Amino acid sequence: MRAPLRCRGARAPGRAITHGARAQKNPSTSRVAGRVIKRPTYGPGMAEQLISTAEHAELPENYVRPEAQRPRLSEVVSDAQIPVIDLADPDRAAVVARIGDACRTHGFFQVLNHGVPAELTQAMLAVAYDFFRLPAEEKAKLYSDDPAKKMRLSTSFNVRKETVHNWRDYLRLHCHPLEQYVPEWPQNPPSFRETVSSYCVEVRKLGFRLYGAISQSLGLEEGYMERTLGEQEQHMAVNFYPRCPAPELTYGLPAHTDPNALTILLMDQQVAGLQVRRYADGSWIAVNPRPNALVINIGDQLQALSNGRYKSVWHRAVVNSDRPRMSVASFLCPCNDARIGPAAELVAHDSPAVYRDYTYAEYYAKFWSRNLDQEHCLDLFRTSS
Ligand code: OGA
Ligand code: NI
Repeated sequence: MRAPLRCRGARAPGRAITHGARAQKNPSTSRVAGRVIKRPTYGPGMAEQLISTAEHAELPENYVRPEAQRPRLSEVVSDAQIPVIDLADPDRAAVVARIGDACRTHGFFQVLNHGVPAELTQAMLAVAYDFFRLPAEEKAKLYSDDPAKKMRLSTSFNVRKETVHNWRDYLRLHCHPLEQYVPEWPQNPPSFRETVSSYCVEVRKLGFRLYGAISQSLGLEEGYMERTLGEQEQHMAVNFYPRCPAPELTYGLPAHTDPNALTILLMDQQVAGLQVRRYADGSWIAVNPRPNALVINIGDQLQALSNGRYKSVWHRAVVNSDRPRMSVASFLCPCNDARIGPAAELVAHDSPAVYRDYTYAEYYAKFWSRNLDQEHCLDLFRTSS
C-alpha cells in the first residue's frame, strides 16, 4: 500500500523564504522561482481566501509545500501520452477494447469525436473565464467552504481540514436534475446558466455512452453500470488556477483520486497543468491539451465496481507563472443510497472481492473527512486490511 503523505506539521518555517526571482540569472531557475511571504490566516468562511481576486507577486507562506512534497517539475515526463480514443470509429468492438485497455493501464484517456460540440466547449471555457473575472465583491457573495453546499465558490481543496493550501479557486455546482439546481447558480455572467446547462446535458450523454462501453469492456452487459449506479448525480468543478509566483513550491491540486464514478474533464486549450501518475512505474506524466478532446478518468467507484481491474489513478494539477489556467471537471456520481461493491460477475474463487459493499453516502463522507493527499480513500474499504 502506498505510504500516506502527511501534511500535518508540514508548515513552512516562520520566516519568509526568498528565492530572489528578480536576481536570478539562469532562466530555467528564474522561471520557477518566486518569493514567499507570510499571509494572515483568515477565519473560516472568509472570501478573502480566494486567490483569483488579486494578482500575486509572492507566494504566501501557507501555500508552500515542504521540500519532500513538492512537484519536482523537471522530473515530469512531458512527451508521454495517455491513450487517445476516437469514439467515431465504426468498429465498436475495437473502441470497447481500447477503452478497456486504457482503464486498466492508465485509468485515464482522451476521447475525440465525443459528441460535445466544439462551440459548446469553447463557450463553456469562455464563460468560466468571465466568471472568475467578476469583481471581488460579487464573488464574495458566493463564497463558502462548506462541502455540503450544492453551489459554492471556494478555494484550495478543503480549507477547513488542510494545513497547506492549494493555488486554486473553484466553483462547485450540482447539475442534475437541472431544473432543481439552475435557480441557485450564478446569474452573472448573463450567459452562465444557459451555456453551462447545455454543456452539462451533452456531457451527461457522453458519460452514459462511456458507461456502456466500459461495462462491455469488463464483459458485463451494456446497461450494467447505469443500472447499478442508479440515477446519477452530476457535479461540476470549474477550476481556476491563477498565475502563480512560485509553481515549484505548490500545487493547483495535489495528488488525489476522484471519489466519484467517472470524470469528464474539459481542459484549457492553451495551458497545460494536468499530470497523471503512470500506474506502471509511478512517474508523473503531463497531459497536454489536444484540440477538441475531452479527458476521461475512472473514479474510485468504478475501481470498486470492477473489483480493482480498472484504476482510479493519482493525478494532480500544477500551476505556472506565465498564464492562468482553467479546467472544467464534470463528475458523474452514484446516488447517495446506491450500494457499491465489486460486480458479482467479476468475483470468483481466484479473484475474491477486493472491496466490501458500502453506500456512496458512506464513501463520500469519508472522502471529505480526510485531507486530499492521504492514502487512497478506497483502501479504507478493502475486505482485508
Ligand atoms: C479535479 C481534477 C484536474 C485539472 O478537478 O478533480 O483533477 O487539470 N482537475 O484541473
Ligand atoms: Ni481529479
